[in-house]
Amino acid sequence: MGPNDFINQMEPWIDDNEVRHMTEYLSSGGWLTEFKKTAEFEEMVAAYTGAKHCIIVANGTVSMSVAYWALGIGPGDEVLVPDVTMIATPNAVRLVGATPVLVDVEAATLCMDLERAAAAITPRTKAVALVSLNGRAPDMHAWRTFCDARGLVLMEDAAQSLGSRQGGTHLGRFGQVGSFSFSAPKIITTGQGGALITDDDALALRMRKIKDFGRVKAGVDWHDMMGQNFKTTDVQSVLGIEQMKKLPWRVERKKAMYRRYEAALSGVNGVGMLRTSDDTAPWFMDVYVDDPAGLREHLHTRGIGSRPVYPAVHRQSIYAGDAQFPVAERFCSRGLWLPSSSFLDDATIDRVTAGVRAFVSGGTAS
Ligand SMILES: Cc1ncc(COP(=O)(O)O)c(C=O)c1O
Repeated sequence: MGPNDFINQMEPWIDDNEVRHMTEYLSSGGWLTEFKKTAEFEEMVAAYTGAKHCIIVANGTVSMSVAYWALGIGPGDEVLVPDVTMIATPNAVRLVGATPVLVDVEAATLCMDLERAAAAITPRTKAVALVSLNGRAPDMHAWRTFCDARGLVLMEDAAQSLGSRQGGTHLGRFGQVGSFSFSAPKIITTGQGGALITDDDALALRMRKIKDFGRVKAGVDWHDMMGQNFKTTDVQSVLGIEQMKKLPWRVERKKAMYRRYEAALSGVNGVGMLRTSDDTAPWFMDVYVDDPAGLREHLHTRGIGSRPVYPAVHRQSIYAGDAQFPVAERFCSRGLWLPSSSFLDDATIDRVTAGVRAFVSGGTAS
């Protein structure tokens, strides 16, 4: 990237490899709908994460609804959801007719706070939707123990966590089911797409059927359970296969990028960064400042794109209520995502961090 090129906050990264395989597939007479390419993509995600089963679905929102549906969670049930997440996490609960109950987050990881979750449990609580935000995870064994002791399902929204682990175990594997997203800004993308992983054979089968109209088996128009069409296509899976081959390199690059941002910005007066374990491949490079809008504008004048972090869920009109979420408030009002595409070179990152430093030190020269 040249020194004067505009740096987008995030871009999908597709190269000639994807073009070649897509062209080959499109001229092969494949039926485009999900079939062998999707099965291959599923095997790759299962092998990478270490899960027994992977089911690819249309996106990382309906994935979670499919999981709830398959687990029998619906009207009258409550699911605990962190107040800091993309709106898809509570929306997926509402899609199955259940009620998301918002819980504040812990300051160290911005993931759901265990003690606050304990206080939010009612007789109607059936599941916890634990989001490993930006690949960071709370103590996953503690969460598993917490859920097991109360008979709650642990559903991991690991949409942002492909490539992130804790103690060697891939995120998404601590709960009964884990969910990933392949939307355009993710570490790998199929444009739109999602994946469910589980080690539970019966659950895997139910989820597979629900996403395919409740069909008895592939290719047969008999249905022995209620389902919908939440499938992907082999066209997207061709992309997914090629992107998966690049994942290990990208994971290491994201880790190295975060370390470079951290070396330049952490400890700088006026810039906050979260401590991030070596097992974490941050999805986006996040900083916390007093004036994120001002920093965003300043960076823009230097040809640097950025994006405000997601607003706290309780700030969205459809989730507004009386409860207080002080930690979520503090971080969501101060967060900014800096350029995070894994193809960015070190010189480009240095350009970004110089821009941030100039802003917080009061220098505005572009
Ligand atoms: C934490 C989280 N959950 C769910 C989603 C939804 O995924 P999708 O866009 O694939 O529906 C996202 C998307 O960014 C996300 O960040």
